[in-house]
Amino acid sequence: MTSTPPDAPHGPFGWIAEQAAARAAAGLHRELRPRPAESDLLDLAGNDYLGLTRHPEVTEAGARACRRWGAGATGSRLVTGSTALHAGLEAELADFTGFEAALVLASGYAANLAAVTALTGPGTLLVSDAANHASLIDGCRLSRARTEVTAHADPAAVRKVLAGHSGRAVVVSDTVFSVDGDAAPLAGLAAAARASGAALLLDDAHGLGVLGPGGRGAPNGAGLAGAPDVVCTATLSKSLGAQGGVVLGPAAVIDHLVNAARTFIFDTGLAPAAAGAALGALRLLRREPERPGRALAAARAFHRGLTAEGLDATAPDACVVSVRAPSPAAAVRWAADCRAAGLAVGCFRPPSVPDGVSRLRITANAALTQGQIASAIATVAATAPAGAR
Ligand SMILES: Cc1ncc(COP(=O)(O)O)c(C=O)c1O
Repeated sequence: MTSTPPDAPHGPFGWIAEQAAARAAAGLHRELRPRPAESDLLDLAGNDYLGLTRHPEVTEAGARACRRWGAGATGSRLVTGSTALHAGLEAELADFTGFEAALVLASGYAANLAAVTALTGPGTLLVSDAANHASLIDGCRLSRARTEVTAHADPAAVRKVLAGHSGRAVVVSDTVFSVDGDAAPLAGLAAAARASGAALLLDDAHGLGVLGPGGRGAPNGAGLAGAPDVVCTATLSKSLGAQGGVVLGPAAVIDHLVNAARTFIFDTGLAPAAAGAALGALRLLRREPERPGRALAAARAFHRGLTAEGLDATAPDACVVSVRAPSPAAAVRWAADCRAAGLAVGCFRPPSVPDGVSRLRITANAALTQGQIASAIATVAATAPAGAR
């Protein structure tokens, strides 16, 4: 005799419809909106901080790499997926940022999983900032290490957690937090980690190309690049306008990752076009070190202008400015009204925001003119919902 499971009328995925209905009721439904290749929208939602993703030199470097090395890497890095192009990109990234060695992976997400999991394990203590990026959080979860989440940007809390632990420990933090664009207290975190002999792992996704001298990154700016106890990750998809991720650190650490990091070992190598484009962007940045300053000035102008309009905008330490919205639904409507007025802005809602507060997210870039900045501020202010001020 066969019995009928209680949820048979809905099938094994009946629960998905229930979750979708709950999300829609809370204003948290998400959907894909493919963008056209050409658009009249002013883009303040993407992460192309230096305006390089469509720079002819960068796209040509990507196209050349694709023609020379093929459309794909053909295999994992330890099999056929390492080319002279990958090796060259790693050498130049390490040299530019001031670290001893570099390892390029398929994404910044994969780089974070690689670094966190390969440098920890059962028995290691991970100390993780409450506002860290999802990829660091997932790395902590995958690592099977004990993870203590500390209050946001609080070196004293880090010090306290480390003081109660003996044995290996790693302190993990974004350098610039992706939701509010504020910088981590790097000197305080380094001092806290060093007081206990812990390693410091920094995700410089939003700092590389923007912070530090000539865009060499936040760890370089803080005097931490190349230190024997500091490892850094970054993405090649923001300032460098391409795609991919990198782990930077002491040569022995990078060699360990080659042998132990599962998201490196079991993943196809970065596509040559992305590696070539990232290398092209890096060389262009070296030649045009004024680009980061222009992007930072644009971010500060957004903050000044939006605050003068009575909006609750965060003071940027890099290129991200976020503006508080009264509810998830209001944030979605606000972003849609901006779009209708010719402006693409990001919209952050739970679960992407650790404190549950929805926001518009504006990313500044080096290519913006004064006129574009002023008109974008006017649009965001004119479309602001009740309760945003
Ligand atoms: C802080 C941070 N870390 C890591 C990543 C992941 O990088 P990628 O998009 O290259 O996977 C992102 C964003 O995408 C990020 O904002």
